[in-house]
Amino acid sequence: MSTATAGKGLEGIVAANSGICWIDGDAGILSYRGIDIHELASHSTFEETAYLLWNGGLPNATELRDFSRSLAEARVLDSRIIDLLRSFPRTGTPMEVLRTAVSALSLYDADELDNTHDANVRKAFRLTAQVAMIVAIYDRIRKGKPIVEADKNLTHAGNFLWMLTGEKPSETATRTLDIALILHADHELNASTFAARVIAATLSDIHSAVTGAIGALKGPLHGGANEAVMRMLFAIDKAGADPVEYVKQMLADKKKVSGFGHRVYKTEDPRATHLRRMSEQLSKDSGITKWYDWSRKIELYINAEKKLNANVDFYSASTYTTLGIDVDLFTPIFAVSRIAGWSAHVIEQLDDNRLIRPRAEYIGPAYPSPYVPLAQRG
Ligand SMILES: CC(C)(COP(=O)(O)OP(=O)(O)OC[C@H]1O[C@@H](n2cnc3c(N)ncnc32)[C@H](O)[C@@H]1OP(=O)(O)O)[C@@H](O)C(=O)NCCC(=O)NCCS
Repeated sequence: MSTATAGKGLEGIVAANSGICWIDGDAGILSYRGIDIHELASHSTFEETAYLLWNGGLPNATELRDFSRSLAEARVLDSRIIDLLRSFPRTGTPMEVLRTAVSALSLYDADELDNTHDANVRKAFRLTAQVAMIVAIYDRIRKGKPIVEADKNLTHAGNFLWMLTGEKPSETATRTLDIALILHADHELNASTFAARVIAATLSDIHSAVTGAIGALKGPLHGGANEAVMRMLFAIDKAGADPVEYVKQMLADKKKVSGFGHRVYKTEDPRATHLRRMSEQLSKDSGITKWYDWSRKIELYINAEKKLNANVDFYSASTYTTLGIDVDLFTPIFAVSRIAGWSAHVIEQLDDNRLIRPRAEYIGPAYPSPYVPLAQRG
């Protein structure tokens, strides 16, 4: 078999056939199962979007009701997982905790040893419900607050906010989070989804695949960027700095500005369009204007200076902060949504599996290099 060398970071390499998500990076188009993300953000819900990703088409009213009910009924967390969450040091970041707890979930999953399509769909429901619960419950535990029971009558977004805050969320907050969850639900072969597919393709289990995906999402070049954006805005605030001067200095220091640039999009990330609009609206409604205003100034400067566009992570930072969400929950919230896409990809991978095992271009010492006995080494 012949081999070809891929560019660094596998840029431009097509590594799988997939019917889940299509992106045109030059035109700024993102679609799930062929449906434009703008349509979904305007009209859909997270539940409907997850159905679409998992089943290939939109549900009718009965299918959507049944799907939403199944997801709500899956909002159960084994008490031993809650004990585990209580045992972690309060200094543990929610993302580390999520990664560890999701790994532990398989120990208590009824379908632990079943890797069939149907079992993985059942596990996808449970994982989608449980990821949101783990993020909310750990936040309550670390703050010394009582755990809030899941409310099966609320939507996925509404229940997450309810379990996080212990207060019935406003319609604006619920719809804002719901749209954010739709926007983050899938993105083709991004780093975490690729990691999930590589793990699934060994015929390991979906919990292992999702645990690996969470580890990949955590990094600041991927999902961790939304937290990094907010930490930058906080640093600007603390220093009393001018936001544009601050990022100008970052660029002069050869630092990357989180929330800008993308491997695939060469124009505006269509998800950023919605997050910018929501951030602006929330800033007007709440009167907390500085995060949006500074973000906009930074965006205009980086556009003009570096020809880089804001990505999904840039305005999610100011959006979540204006909603009152802690910064270290931003990347876990990305996972609360992306679990839908990871599940769809793991199931698709296993429906037509082959081990994913590429080659490396060897650049080490020449072969054969001598084995020098220990006594003769300097
Ligand atoms: C997303 C990202 C990892 C894509 O990486 P990539 O495709 O490997 O692109 P590169 O890192 O090689 O960047 C290409 C060029 O643009 C510059 N660039 C890319 N993103 C930049 C950013 N956010 N700030 C400043 N410069 C940036 C790079 O420095 C590089 O310049 P050079 O050719 O002069 O060295 C990258 O844009 C980045 O690190 N962005 C910040 C983190 C982030 O927001 N991640 C979330 C992505 S959704």
